[in-house]
Amino acid sequence: MLVLEDLYLGYGPVDVIKGISLEVTPGEVVCILGGNGSGKSTILKAVAGFLTPQSGEVRYEGRVVNDVPAHRRWHEGLVYIPQDRRLFGRKTVYENLELGCLSRGEPRAQVKGRIEEMLEHFPVLREKSRLKALTLSGGEQQTLALARALMGSPRLILLDEPSAGLAPVWIERLFEVMQRVIAELALTVIIVEQNIHVGLDFAERGFVIQNGVIALEESSATLRGSEDLIRSYLGG
Ligand SMILES: Nc1ncnc2c1ncn2[C@@H]1O[C@H](COP(=O)(O)OP(=O)(O)OP(=O)(O)O)[C@@H](O)[C@H]1O
Ligand SMILES: [Mg+2]
Repeated sequence: MLVLEDLYLGYGPVDVIKGISLEVTPGEVVCILGGNGSGKSTILKAVAGFLTPQSGEVRYEGRVVNDVPAHRRWHEGLVYIPQDRRLFGRKTVYENLELGCLSRGEPRAQVKGRIEEMLEHFPVLREKSRLKALTLSGGEQQTLALARALMGSPRLILLDEPSAGLAPVWIERLFEVMQRVIAELALTVIIVEQNIHVGLDFAERGFVIQNGVIALEESSATLRGSEDLIRSYLGG
């Protein structure tokens, strides 16, 4: 589904990611763990097409996409939910959902049907569908960001720290509904987390990034037994 091969990423002369390789197979949910500024978002941006690699390859569904712009990747089912969610705060929940797929040129009736599906999946959004997005709580906004991303019919979804800034009760609620929807739609997921427990409970496999390389790559079950080690990587 996705292959990163000897990828070097950075901004100007500064290397952030120094040669990482990894593969994600269809239907897999994998987690990237790493400390502040370790380059987690940088990796997702390169996969989504917002950052051109300095060298190495990003292959999506068997094709090198290094030079494919972000909007084309989105059309091909590669959807990124950034850390800051990027909702349209002054538009309503409903309008935000509409904007999740209007640019694909789907007929209006079909869009309406898809929104209805999302409101079925996420009842909290139905209650608030006529409210402006900026009036929602952090957890509701993250739910909306997920629902809007799903409007684009993704095959591979990139989640950048969905738990950040949320109260524990909201994290639990959000991840429960995400798990259900992801299984139902058979999505492939790369999630970035700083919260080790949240990340490993959600994903089947994890990668730990430190100093621009993959320091550890194991099943979540195995990584759960190495928490102190992971913590030392995340802190260092
Ligand atoms: N647009 C940019 N221009 C220059 N440097 C950047 C830019 N974006 C990120 N960086 C730098 O690249 C490094 C990695 O940033 P990145 O955002 O990928 O880290 P992260 O692991 O996602 O961190 P966080 O957990 O804080 O979100 C940091 O040192 C950051 O300062
Ligand atoms: Mg980040």
